[in-house]
Amino acid sequence: MKATRIDHIGIAVKDLRAAVAWYEETLGFKSGGTETVDEQKVEVAFLPCGEGELELLESTDPEGPVARFIEKNGEGVQHIALRVADIDAVLAELKEKGVRLIDQTPRYGAGGARIAFIHPKETKGVLLELCERS
Ligand code: CO
Repeated sequence: MKATRIDHIGIAVKDLRAAVAWYEETLGFKSGGTETVDEQKVEVAFLPCGEGELELLESTDPEGPVARFIEKNGEGVQHIALRVADIDAVLAELKEKGVRLIDQTPRYGAGGARIAFIHPKETKGVLLELCERS
């Protein structure tokens, strides 16, 4: 598989509005707006940073993956997203290699991306998101 760059770094937060305000006012980021992604039970805000972005994620459901992450680890880096050109080809290749995947097929990601997660057991403890943008 060929990852072309780090697309974004996902940061789990308890309070999205407060987190966006802090990143904007203190670090000078400018939010590209927020979006609710029902499929992942999150509301997200993207903060562009050069060629990459920070993705702040607040859970919209106490049973959602981001809520469970914060319960276990506290706020912090939750995933790293790698940009790939052809996510279908990458998933097929990883399945062929027997890699454990969280998503067998691409699903909707914020901003209209097609995304899939690789299981952190495979990646030495990091939740890796594959991210294809058109
Ligand atoms: Co992400």
